[in-house]
Amino acid sequence: MAYLETKGLEVSFDGFKAVDGLDFSVNQGELRCLIGANGAGKSTTLDIISGKTRQSAGSILLDGVDITDKHEHHRARAGIGRKFQVPSIFSELTVRENLQLAYSKQTSIRHNIFSWPGSAGRERIEEVVELTGLRDRLDTQASFLSHGETQWLEISMLIIQDSKIILMDEPTAGMTIGETQKTAAIFNSLKGHHTLVVVEHDMTFVREIAEIITVLHQGKLLAEGTVGEIEINPRVQEAYLGSGGISHA
Ligand SMILES: Nc1ncnc2c1ncn2[C@@H]1O[C@H](COP(=O)(O)OP(=O)(O)OP(=O)(O)O)[C@@H](O)[C@H]1O
Ligand SMILES: [Mg+2]
Repeated sequence: MAYLETKGLEVSFDGFKAVDGLDFSVNQGELRCLIGANGAGKSTTLDIISGKTRQSAGSILLDGVDITDKHEHHRARAGIGRKFQVPSIFSELTVRENLQLAYSKQTSIRHNIFSWPGSAGRERIEEVVELTGLRDRLDTQASFLSHGETQWLEISMLIIQDSKIILMDEPTAGMTIGETQKTAAIFNSLKGHHTLVVVEHDMTFVREIAEIITVLHQGKLLAEGTVGEIEINPRVQEAYLGSGGISHA
């Protein structure tokens, strides 16, 4: 059974259907790449899944639970983690303090003073910074992190919260080539342990991380398959021509 499943998702902005009858499903532990030309409806799809934008039709199931009518904060509590383009971290706090705060928001423990991490939290923080390469930065104030490190901190915070599914919109935007490669390595090590949906334009990055790719076009599902299948799909090539998408990658 799919871990995340949308059926007939739809949203209109002033009569224009930005997402138009989308059936989309992701299995547990999968890393799904979501690609498509500018305006295809990728960000809007993430907005609907996270509850930031209300769907006008359709349904969403997460881990067998119907979350269609839940508000954004309830969906977050149900385990939907979202990485934003401007990271939601506390810049005056250190990396460690940010991670402690995120740990205290785990879906599995209660929001209260007793959730401030004891040794279990410290161990978890150690594990996560090992994965995201921030060990040497634990005591650095977040405002002093590089662009890439800031993104990795936010990813670390989502991991440590035990989100059931993590949604990321263009996580490598603005990163150097080196930072992008490191991000690919981080994502590859998350496979199997976390369920991720990653919207990306950078096909070099997508090739590095992709298992199955979903292609959106005008709010609809255009194609789904492996990198090899998607890159030779004539419908995909046609939808992208002149759009700065796959043909330029
Ligand atoms: N809040 C909004 N109000 C009106 N129109 C919107 C709104 N959000 C998105 N749209 C429109 O919906 C369509 C889909 O936008 P969306 O941002 O989901 O595309 P995208 O696939 O993420 O594109 P990009 O690759 O450029 O980020 C676009 O035509 C966009 O202009
Ligand atoms: Mg977008």
